[in-house]
Amino acid sequence: LAPRDLEGLRVAVSAGGTREPIDPVRFLGNRSSGRQGVALAAEAAARGASVVLVATNIAGDVLADARHPSVRIVTAGSAAELADAMADAAADADVVIMAAAVADYRPVAVSDRKLTKESGGIPSIELVENADIVASLVAARRPGQLIVGFAAETPEDQDELIARARRKQQRKGVDLLVVNEVGWERGFESADNAVHVLGPDGAIAGEASGTKRAVASAVWDAVSDTLSSDRT
Ligand code: C5P
Repeated sequence: LAPRDLEGLRVAVSAGGTREPIDPVRFLGNRSSGRQGVALAAEAAARGASVVLVATNIAGDVLADARHPSVRIVTAGSAAELADAMADAAADADVVIMAAAVADYRPVAVSDRKLTKESGGIPSIELVENADIVASLVAARRPGQLIVGFAAETPEDQDELIARARRKQQRKGVDLLVVNEVGWERGFESADNAVHVLGPDGAIAGEASGTKRAVASAVWDAVSDTLSSDRT
């Protein structure tokens, strides 16, 4: 039986991967399935939290794992929609987890009509940078609110992985950072995951590998530990 250590906690979790429209039928996207974020939402609910899950482009069978009376699901498509939905969800959350894979760039112009070969020439897509959602959540942070970021990295080795993660944690101003190594066969789209969790001091506060639910459980353990050490 899951512990009820998150009883009374209100949490907001983003999951999935954004899609940046190019024209009515095409988008720039990524391979995030949303499984890790869905597992985080399900685990939080099982441990007593009330959860808003902001789902971006998650397949129905994956999203079904988040079905629980204490999970409210909101959907968002692009990074801009996700930013709005997370700002709303975070406004009354005690813990915010940004597990979604957000596109760094979006097309400058979205065509109202499908681009075709007849449009002429070899097409190029001009891009503009998306705002960093988690950075704005940190800027708007409520007193006592804990914010958790994710980092998906393809490092040369373990030392580089942790060093990059620490820099990201500081740059974004998040309290905890969950870092996972991804590759063609690892992390995205797969059922299993392996992560390190950096605590508020940058030290490794947790490690887990296995199913995404097992990883979710370790992330919530680290959150729970951080909340109880803040209170003492
Ligand atoms: O910089 P990078 O994309 O690796 O950072 C990953 C973390 O930042 C994740 O928590 C992701 O959800 C978040 N992010 C964001 N807004 C962006 C890009 C990433 O909130 N535009």
